[in-house]
Amino acid sequence: MKELQEAVAYLKEQTQNYQPDFGIILGTGLGALVNDIKVKYAIPYEAIPHFPVSTVESHSGKLIFGLLGGRQVVVMQGRFHYYEGYTMEQVVFPVRVMKLLGIQKLFVSNAAGGLNPDFNTSDLMVITDHINLQPTNPLIGPNKNELGSRFPDMSQVYDEDLVREALVIAADHAILVQTGVYVSVPGPMLETKAEYKYLSLIGADAVGMSTVPEIIAARHMDLPCFALSVITDMCVPGKIKKVVLLDILEAAAKAEPHMTLLMKELIKRQG
Ligand code: HPA
Repeated sequence: MKELQEAVAYLKEQTQNYQPDFGIILGTGLGALVNDIKVKYAIPYEAIPHFPVSTVESHSGKLIFGLLGGRQVVVMQGRFHYYEGYTMEQVVFPVRVMKLLGIQKLFVSNAAGGLNPDFNTSDLMVITDHINLQPTNPLIGPNKNELGSRFPDMSQVYDEDLVREALVIAADHAILVQTGVYVSVPGPMLETKAEYKYLSLIGADAVGMSTVPEIIAARHMDLPCFALSVITDMCVPGKIKKVVLLDILEAAAKAEPHMTLLMKELIKRQG
């Protein structure tokens, strides 16, 4: 807790107690939402005490404070993945910091592979539930009682009101959105064909390497969560191609304007 408190104290001092109401985590290739933010403060991760530092080239690590659609937000531009070698505690450290800074809700995006045959590349998928296949999770170890309870409930992880509102906004703007279950795997290698089949059989609609640890930490703290996947490649028989990061970034860039609009409108409407 001491490390969290030091990070929070530093950020409050640097931002003159800027009070964000909503937290946002931006996934691979989805950082452009920041262009819609009236930035008040941009703090590089390496300046924040105890913050992990991004290693993935496609992520630029900054914590951004400002206005999105007129609402006060804090945005993680770049996130931390377990496959980079961080502990789960490090992966979720920023989520806990954002909660202690006062956010009321958490909004998350990611790039994911599509397992549902009805999906297409560059589709958006509102996450309605998840399956955790990461080898560990951020709540293992002595419980941080100041943050939440020992056995947090997971029967309704993604806030149903936020899901409903997002679908209304999408319909209003004629944006096609899918809904489905996201499975989080450790990576960093992509999956074999047999693994894609397995992930589909266990009930997942999309697969990625992030999000679930952060959501688990957020739910531990009772933060309402909303998460959106951008389908960057299709993982169903007949549609599986060799995946290169450039293709993922290209597909993410194509979907980015719709994702930004959806997130922005959703945040604007929060009470
Ligand atoms: N698998 C896992 N993670 C991913 C994928 C995938 O196919 N595409 C984008 N992130």
